[in-house]
Amino acid sequence: MAKINKSKAQAKPSPKKKSLVSEGEAAAEIKRLSAEIRRHDALYYQNDAPEISDADYDALRQQLETLERKFPEFAHSESPTQNVGAAPVSAFGKVRHDVPMLSLSNAFADDDVADFTARIRRFLNLTDTTALDVVAEPKIDGLSISIRYENGQLTQAATRGDGAEGENVTANIKTIKAIPHALKGQDVPVVIDVRGEIYLSHADFAALNTAQEKSGGKIFANPRNAAAGSLRQLDSSITAQRPLKFFAYAWGAASKLPADSQSGVVDAFKRWGLPVNPLTRVCQSADELLDYYRDIDARRASLGYDIDGVVYKVNRLDYQERLGFVSRAPRWAIAHKFAAERATTILRDIEIQVGRTGALTPVAKLEPVTVGGVVVSNATLHNEDEIARKDIRIGDTVVVQRAGDVIPQVVEVVLDKRPKTTKPFKYPETCPACGSHAVRDADEKTGVADVVRRCTGGLICPAQAKERLKHFVSRNALDIEGLGGEKIEFLFDDDRIKTPADIFTLKARDAQHAAPLHTLKGFGKTSVEKLFSAIDARRTVSLDRFLFALGIRHIGETTAKDLAKAYGTFEALQSAVMAAVGGGKGSEPYQEIDNIEGIGETVVDALIGFFGEAHNAEQIGALLKEITVAPYVRTAASKSPVSSKTVVFTGSLTRLTRNEAKAQAERLGAKVAGSVSKKTDYVVAGADAGSKLDAARALGVTVLTEDEWLDLISQS
Ligand code: IVH
Repeated sequence: MAKINKSKAQAKPSPKKKSLVSEGEAAAEIKRLSAEIRRHDALYYQNDAPEISDADYDALRQQLETLERKFPEFAHSESPTQNVGAAPVSAFGKVRHDVPMLSLSNAFADDDVADFTARIRRFLNLTDTTALDVVAEPKIDGLSISIRYENGQLTQAATRGDGAEGENVTANIKTIKAIPHALKGQDVPVVIDVRGEIYLSHADFAALNTAQEKSGGKIFANPRNAAAGSLRQLDSSITAQRPLKFFAYAWGAASKLPADSQSGVVDAFKRWGLPVNPLTRVCQSADELLDYYRDIDARRASLGYDIDGVVYKVNRLDYQERLGFVSRAPRWAIAHKFAAERATTILRDIEIQVGRTGALTPVAKLEPVTVGGVVVSNATLHNEDEIARKDIRIGDTVVVQRAGDVIPQVVEVVLDKRPKTTKPFKYPETCPACGSHAVRDADEKTGVADVVRRCTGGLICPAQAKERLKHFVSRNALDIEGLGGEKIEFLFDDDRIKTPADIFTLKARDAQHAAPLHTLKGFGKTSVEKLFSAIDARRTVSLDRFLFALGIRHIGETTAKDLAKAYGTFEALQSAVMAAVGGGKGSEPYQEIDNIEGIGETVVDALIGFFGEAHNAEQIGALLKEITVAPYVRTAASKSPVSSKTVVFTGSLTRLTRNEAKAQAERLGAKVAGSVSKKTDYVVAGADAGSKLDAARALGVTVLTEDEWLDLISQS
């Protein structure tokens, strides 16, 4: 987000606005960049809540390195560039995970746990008397790793990374004594990716910090940070000196599994010589899970290593298979987090950030305070109403809370400590970046004002434009390496990049420019060449990434994928949306988009709003002259006979629950719709099917029984 501090915005011109000329400016810029990198290090390594992408972070470091090379007199031994513990992500080779490394959904309250087991029972259509065994185990606060064994030999190890691709840390993992180089036993599969957590015990963490202090090395804020820093050493002899430990608790690709249950596979891990957590239990009910949770919470301080909750996993693997995944987390597992840790500190300022959709977000700037072992200096204040409701004022003493990897938040004000001079915070009614009115739209249906105040500046607001560009190049969008937030800010302010298309014409224009980029301080010749080739490398982009990159409201990665899957090409999507512009909710083109699984009216309205805006159409036109949007490529599901078919389920099914049928169909690449239209390929009718079946017959749509449907998909 563009950070604009209301009170200081005028007083402090951005140091990036012009190229650096004097040594004084260079010194100040080195100081500023060092502080900024250190702040991001803390956010990433300690808070686990990075504010910028890895690419942006790398760009910051690159800028600092360049400056330090040019002005060695200002480079100092404390500089983040001297710190190998936070080696840039690009220093290791990349490894693509055959099976993605996913995250877990969270449960916080007891009810969430009861909901979890109830949801699973519903999904699997289990009767109340059918057993549902769930494995409970501590949630280790370390870093996850995937270790490949081929014919029992350790051949490769990779960090989680973004879940799809991690860093190759084989050499470092091989130095960890707790991890066997060879598995023992008769039932070791030909290939298996063993997954688990690398961590450091409290005692080893304390000893490491003492040794670091003596040798003048980096002091780590907490064991996880120390474990991460130790694993990311470029020199594995350093990793070898750190007593890292490991618990195996999951797996990725496997040629064959040694058991048909979660606990059975973990037992096999143990037999093969892998360390597994001895506190793992099989429970039979939600109540038993809660007892386990309370027991572990009570023993938390004496375990000797950090945990941040417990994890529950459905034990039967056939159930796990049927339950599958939603977005990036399995339906068959959940993390039950321990209560948040709190601390009090002083609220120094309230900064208003402007996001790419114009949303103004208040951020608390705090007197740094340690919350559960981590230093916190920023916290979210949520929105205007929350500030008013809690009457949060600058100068107040506030309670800050941090739970696991969630962004820290300001919970309440300690009124006893309120200085007499404080005044209620007045939320800005104009955008701090462009001065346009900032308004709270009323909900069309309810008339209730939206909690978010938005800048109405739209295309004229520089903060929004910059944020849209940053989003466009970010890791999950176009992923242009070396074009991070700071570079975008600079190139925007310097009138070199104003729109996405400008990114791709930058090189051609640079050749004609009076001051080509490489002549500017902070941009070496090689770094400019690297940037241009990173841009060129993204002249072809997949449809889902492109849709996500456009930054249309309500279109996140999942929705972008749903749309890409449904339309296949950008042209098809664009013309479908254009056909719906001005047609109203009842029109056929509108309904057609609305019928896509995962897409609702909010998204349809956002698409229409975006594509219907002439300036956007113009920008997209310019962009498409520069880049190619590759049609959506289906994965394994493409060979399935129901791939890209539209299916409607109706009536009651007997062999599958409705949710299960839907999830299975989607896994095979089908679109599941809620209503029957001419576009429907199959209607699967269970007992007592009503109007949808009638509609199918009237429209001549193929009607299948549940068994016929199962036969059809079994061909895939
Ligand atoms: S199971 C498909 N079990 O939690 C789910 N994860 O929020 C695979 N974690 O990235 C994860 N202890 O790093 C699992 N006993 C445990 C865990 C555990 C810690 C971490 C893991 C994962 C994160 C998910």
